[in-house]
Amino acid sequence: MSGQPEFFNVVVAERKDRGTGVIVITLVRPDGGPLPPFAAGAHIPVQLPGGLLRYYSLCGDPARRTRYKLAVLVTRHTQGGGQVIRERLLPGVQLSIGEPRNHFPLEPRTGPTLLLAGGIGVTPLLLMALALKRQGRPYLLHYFGRGDTLAALAEEPDYGEIVDDILVDTQNRLPRRDTDAASVSGQPRPPMPAESITEDTAAPVPGESGPHAPAEPIPEDAAAMASHGSGAPLDGILSDWQRRYRRFELYYCGSTEFMQTIRDRCVALGIPEEDCHCESFAPPKVTGEKAFEVKIFATGEIITVSANQTIADALNDAGVNVEISCGQGLCGTCLAGVKDGIPDHRDEYLSADEKAANNKILLCCSRALSSTLVIDL
Ligand code: FES
Repeated sequence: MSGQPEFFNVVVAERKDRGTGVIVITLVRPDGGPLPPFAAGAHIPVQLPGGLLRYYSLCGDPARRTRYKLAVLVTRHTQGGGQVIRERLLPGVQLSIGEPRNHFPLEPRTGPTLLLAGGIGVTPLLLMALALKRQGRPYLLHYFGRGDTLAALAEEPDYGEIVDDILVDTQNRLPRRDTDAASVSGQPRPPMPAESITEDTAAPVPGESGPHAPAEPIPEDAAAMASHGSGAPLDGILSDWQRRYRRFELYYCGSTEFMQTIRDRCVALGIPEEDCHCESFAPPKVTGEKAFEVKIFATGEIITVSANQTIADALNDAGVNVEISCGQGLCGTCLAGVKDGIPDHRDEYLSADEKAANNKILLCCSRALSSTLVIDL
């Protein structure tokens, strides 16, 4: 059985436009009843007016069972799902949403936890901070990005318990908060380097994932890191935590560039892969993969999927229409049959049994282990 979530109706109960591009949407059931439970790191699929399907991290307190909150960063130029939210998601509008799913959960470990947030990617990490604080586990949330993006979120009462634990830069701090005094919650403050970062660049796409998300030339989190020299501030933070704790849990979320920088530094510093957990709010870029061929079962047409293409991109470029929605292997829109060859499954949609059967594939993200895949569209 595939992982297609159940959809149900909700209503926009409240919308707050923060003036910094951050829009906070509160969703409730029409009858005000409880919603399916979720934990930090969860997201929901949202069927937006007009038919677009988008995925958003849940950012409200999970203890509040009758409402979901989403935070989306939307500029005047944002298109796709962000544009629909800006123009049409007003109080009273009814939507269809799916049950929460969580590919980025907090591991049930007790060691110190470092949370690295890039821009609007901070939303799942705020809930992780909340969960860690309530569990009495030591943690620190370090934010890279525009101060006003974080400040807009920090106004939400959901984060009152943890807002003083967020380490941000000293020039663009949260209003009325002494961020220099940020500490590892539940632990004496470690000797943190003072380089939490901000550079005021164009705002990125909101916490929206999907192939229609507009391109962002310099994501705010990547610009924040670059403003201090490539990787330098990050090395200071990570090596400090290595010195202090030897092993620790690392969770990070942000733009593709932000994530890649962290991934590279973790490898360089020898931080064990099993201690690193991440989620990107943009589809991963395909680069440096192995090329292979796809044969269309019905027509016999053979199309080459290059090292830097998804199967869906290669087929669409060749005039074979493949519909894409999430672009991340989450929704099942691009599902196709496999008649021959071995898929390299990289999706979160198919169950383990379905993947083992090797007779289906998600064309937006999965690849091939064999030199040719014969697919049935
Ligand atoms: S488009 Fe959603 S799984 Fe491929």
